Amino acid sequence: MKRKGVKKMIIISISSFIILILLALAAILLAGGLFQNQTYLQPWNKNYAAHFKDPRIRLAAYGLLAANGHNMQPWIIKLDKDDPMTFYLYADASRMSPKADPYARQMMVTQGTFLDYVAVAGQSIGYPATITLFPDGSYNEQQLAQSMSVKPVAKITLKRAQPQQNPLFRAIYIPDTNREPYKSTKLSSAQIDALEALNDSRIETKIYQDKADVKALGKFALDSAIIEADTRRVMDEAGAIFRANESQKNKMRYGFSFEGQGTSGFKLYFMQGLITLFPSLNNAKASSDLMIQSTKAALEHTPAYAMISSDDNSRVSQVKSGMIYSRLTLTAASLGLAAQPVSQALEEYPEMNKQYTGIHQSYAPKGQTIQMLVRIGTPTKNVPQSMRRDVMELVRD
Ligand SMILES: Cc1cc2nc3c(=O)[nH]c(=O)nc-3n(C[C@H](O)[C@H](O)[C@H](O)COP(=O)(O)O)c2cc1C
Repeated sequence: MKRKGVKKMIIISISSFIILILLALAAILLAGGLFQNQTYLQPWNKNYAAHFKDPRIRLAAYGLLAANGHNMQPWIIKLDKDDPMTFYLYADASRMSPKADPYARQMMVTQGTFLDYVAVAGQSIGYPATITLFPDGSYNEQQLAQSMSVKPVAKITLKRAQPQQNPLFRAIYIPDTNREPYKSTKLSSAQIDALEALNDSRIETKIYQDKADVKALGKFALDSAIIEADTRRVMDEAGAIFRANESQKNKMRYGFSFEGQGTSGFKLYFMQGLITLFPSLNNAKASSDLMIQSTKAALEHTPAYAMISSDDNSRVSQVKSGMIYSRLTLTAASLGLAAQPVSQALEEYPEMNKQYTGIHQSYAPKGQTIQMLVRIGTPTKNVPQSMRRDVMELVRD
């Protein structure tokens, strides 16, 4: 009798324990946003752009999907009131990342990434674009933010033409940034030729995959990530735009999230739930450790690097480098390759000085500026799409 009673009690305790665990799990997943709509992913829907009658907005809806520094999406669109086929791109000065990007160089590269998506989409949907950079002249660098709000980065004029099939168009929907490990397979000479052909008279794309270069560039990338992980104000700037759960991502559809670390499915909701219920898990030390660990894991599985360098460091060259970077991600994706910028060694804040000088002395000996340093290789895993704002938020009077 007594043994039976003990057995029953054990069964009840185990059942209660399991129910408690299940309830806790459900609470975590719900806090993480399970069952919530993901409106922040709407712009990735293949029918999204077509909802907009005005071809200028339709093209901006494609531009919005481009890679961009800190996922700040710092783009403003102004429609020409007199010409229904012309619009202007402005840099959104309220969306700079001044700690990591004190001279707004990456901000300008990010203007270029947008423009090339517009160009590729324009050709494919029958509105080829003529892009004129800085039609009203370059910025007043002494009053940069104010200058950004009055001087457009580009005037974009559309024509009506027969849509032209472009294999790069499909690649617009593939996430640009894959931070996962890549296969050890080297790039073929055909792949290298296709990527190195992405040039301009003053801008060069080069692929490095010799053992010595991969080692040297990997060391620059890792050493500079370690420095950044230890530079509190730069980490805090990125931490402030981390979206912990679905509600936050729907409300502020820019910045970073767990998707960027390749997390998806139940694990995504679980991680989001944990951070939402226990925000202290997301502390400065945890972010620094994660940054170093994930950078190390990625760099150890990187067969090659791409580098985009410009002869000068003018605003025009920065924007053009961004256009070439978008063309590089689209070309890479259409060749079955994935890419991830590793920008830290190229950042211009004082703590990074030694890395910046070192990489330029070794890889830009004629005084060029390295605008992008990028891991490239065959992906081991597809990665989820990241947040994007509604295109109408970009449009201003
Ligand atoms: C100028 C520039 C610099 C970037 N630097 C980094 C970087 O250092 N590390 C990284 O993981 N991603 C970097 N990215 C990628 C962005 O974080 C990414 O494009 C953005 O978060 C949106 O995600 P998606 O490209 O997957 O759509 C950079 C992108 C640009 C345009």
